[in-house]
Amino acid sequence: MKIDDSPDAPPMKTIIEPFRIKAVEPLRQTTVEERERLLAEAGYNLFLIDARNILIDLLTDSGTSAMSTEQWAALMRGDESYAGSESFHRMRRAVEGIFGFRHVIPTHQGRAVERILFSVMCRKGDVVPSNTHFDTTRANIEAAGAEAVDLPAPESADTQARLPFKGNMDVDALRRLIGEVTPARIPLILLTVTNNSMGGQPVSMENIRAVRAAAGESGIPFYLDACRFAENAWFIKLREEGYAGRTPKQIAQEMFSLADGCTFSAKKDAFANIGGFLATNSDALAEQERNLLILTEGFPTYGGLAGRDLEAIAVGLEEVLDEDYLRYRIASALYLGRHIADRGVPIVEPPGAHAIYIDALRLLPHIPPREFPAQALAVELYRHAGIRSVEIGSVMLGAGARQELVRLALPRRVYTQSHIDYVVEAVLEVFGQRHRIRGLEMIYEAKFLRHFTARFRPVVDSPA
Ligand code: F0G
Repeated sequence: MKIDDSPDAPPMKTIIEPFRIKAVEPLRQTTVEERERLLAEAGYNLFLIDARNILIDLLTDSGTSAMSTEQWAALMRGDESYAGSESFHRMRRAVEGIFGFRHVIPTHQGRAVERILFSVMCRKGDVVPSNTHFDTTRANIEAAGAEAVDLPAPESADTQARLPFKGNMDVDALRRLIGEVTPARIPLILLTVTNNSMGGQPVSMENIRAVRAAAGESGIPFYLDACRFAENAWFIKLREEGYAGRTPKQIAQEMFSLADGCTFSAKKDAFANIGGFLATNSDALAEQERNLLILTEGFPTYGGLAGRDLEAIAVGLEEVLDEDYLRYRIASALYLGRHIADRGVPIVEPPGAHAIYIDALRLLPHIPPREFPAQALAVELYRHAGIRSVEIGSVMLGAGARQELVRLALPRRVYTQSHIDYVVEAVLEVFGQRHRIRGLEMIYEAKFLRHFTARFRPVVDSPA
């Protein structure tokens, strides 16, 4: 299979941001000295630095999108009725047109969907396989007393391999697991598109179909974690045999036609600042899920959201499948990825869509994993240039971390090419001085999700 993510038949060579800017939000410069002081105060944890002290914020692509004029206009249409709001019906129709599931249950964000879905479907001792569970997904499965099992395709282990669909699930391993555990103890199989915890790599239609087949033979429900479904659909169009002539919407519809339901955080591929939904074809499950929804989220026609949020999601879902947008989206990640990787910075290859992941173990071989090389690199990027990224390694994932990565997430429609040029320059400068970067020692950690509040101090006597 080919990997050529260069845009198909562009009108001209230069890919531009397919929008112009109507409202601006000023950025604030800080000095290296200020940032060194802020880092010391924050215990070298970038979650504890205030946003006003960040120049370029690549912490996450979640809830950070710029909304369009159509979305802002739609906010005024928001119907804030407690029950039966028109905004809900508009959102439901938008979801049905793409996702096609019978029931759509709105929530305030993705993890609320996870809590409801797993509370209803999982029992103590159950096992939920995935290509790779996101951290809130795993936490909600474990909170329901079940076990979250990651079955990534073996080729994902090599960060340097340039293969088209490294986000796939290992279907042989899935079949073995079903054989060992028995279908009775597997309440559902969850496939995350794209695979956020595995370098943002896409999943092929072939793999979705193969997981569907394995699930179907055993009578196990099959769900997609569809946060970044449009980006995944675009990679299928670019990289998978037989899809070049299909629209992203047709590809997305085919993806969802293979599943029994999905979880969705609208904070990613719906350009919304908040929101999510659970979708399913099962009447019985939907009834239980709505009952649980009422307990903590709200009435089933708003589920923890304002009517205006439902409007923003409805419009966002249409916009995200626009080909000019997706072409630009993938081009900007590719631009950042190639400009640093081709100058020697080891990234997870090939670049995905929502983020570039730097392989800190390769970049900082002089820092042992116990001194958190990815955290040290993220701290240095902030110290040097005011850029905030996020560690996805042993700070976030503990001893279970398979890799030490720094994720540079790209908010949708927010930064221009010159912002990205600045990031490229900063990463290359930090790369040039990598031998001077020292490890960190963790001096405080909370019991759960420690990465949000952990505190560190620099290791002074680490050998060069
Ligand atoms: N699933 C995946 C694959 C995600 O990436 C996220 C969130 C969630 C579920 C949960 O959704 O935040 O709306 O509750 N990912 C964000 C990130 C936080 O930075 O990658 P949520």
